[in-house]
Amino acid sequence: MEYQVTITEVLSRTERVEASSAVMAEKMVRLRYAKEDIVLDYSDFKSVDFHTADSLFFKSDDQMFTLLHGDSTRLLNEFDFKFDMIFADPPYFLSNGGISIQSGRVVCVDKGDWDRGGTPESIDAFNRKWISLCRNKLKDNGTIWISGTYHNIFSVAHSLTELGFKILNVITWAKTNPPPNISCRYFTYSTEFIIWARKCEKVPHYYNYALMKQVNENKQMTDVWRLPAIAPWEKRCGKHPTQKPLAVLSRIILASTQPGAWILDPFTGSSTTGIAANLLGRRFLGIDKEEEYLQISRARKLEIENLHTFDACRKKVKDIALLDKQSPSLFAHEEDFTPYDLPF
Ligand SMILES: C[S@@+](CC[C@H](N)C(=O)[O-])C[C@H]1O[C@@H](n2cnc3c(N)ncnc32)[C@H](O)[C@@H]1O
Repeated sequence: MEYQVTITEVLSRTERVEASSAVMAEKMVRLRYAKEDIVLDYSDFKSVDFHTADSLFFKSDDQMFTLLHGDSTRLLNEFDFKFDMIFADPPYFLSNGGISIQSGRVVCVDKGDWDRGGTPESIDAFNRKWISLCRNKLKDNGTIWISGTYHNIFSVAHSLTELGFKILNVITWAKTNPPPNISCRYFTYSTEFIIWARKCEKVPHYYNYALMKQVNENKQMTDVWRLPAIAPWEKRCGKHPTQKPLAVLSRIILASTQPGAWILDPFTGSSTTGIAANLLGRRFLGIDKEEEYLQISRARKLEIENLHTFDACRKKVKDIALLDKQSPSLFAHEEDFTPYDLPF
């Protein structure tokens, strides 16, 4: 981790050091100055700050929703913290000038520079890098969910296996309202895949079997989820080109975490993961390198701080609405979570 150490005294300087804790950072700066025969007293230290604070974009008043602005492949190296669950919706690398139909009009499907395809080797290297950084951020009993299409999902599965994860399921999200295929030369693209994997081969993961059965009309939940694509009401704080529906993220969170759990999304976009997490009483850290998407994320969080909107959103998300109706006591927990908290 990088710390920013500010020394007042006559020197009035700021030093950056790599250290495992603030105390170590202070010690290292003392040693650095001792080499120049300058002895620093404890009162010379004005502040010792975790450098990631430079990237801190937003922290909600309830401390349940934090956003970092920057490149995940850098930021994930800069702090120590273990999450219960990670959801990642990484670039699928499908922005190569294709077209589709939206509301009856032909539109280009390019999402942005962050989604432009590279060589198969560069895509593999990218996936391997961020998945390996995520692995370091998971508790031993933690799980990761990664979404994709054929463009990236095989590369993701390969990296997961190489890095020692155990793949638990591959969910097929079958969209009930997919856009038509305008070329009429292929089947309509109507599915996305979401791989669910646990960090350690031998350490058991958490799966809320009973709850999943309950939201599936009392039958075992299958790995094919028939859920609609994003609805217009989910975009009222601004548009993200690849925003996921709250229905998908809520099911993932309900299945694999308990209230109070810490959830990370390293490609947070408009933070559907964070909004679903907070609607369900889980805590959240999201990272994105595009500021305009973080602004949408913050607006979405501020929106659900209004209790009326919070309740209205819960009513619109299929699984949550059903559980609220059938088992209202399920969500009536006290929010006395463990004090385990982010270092910023
Ligand atoms: C597929 S979108 C995620 C959408 C999100 N699931 C939602 O519901 O809004 C991927 C996001 O990753 C961000 N991104 C791409 N590369 C990144 C990187 N190296 N570090 C951080 N963010 C990145 C993009 O800006 C984009 O918002």
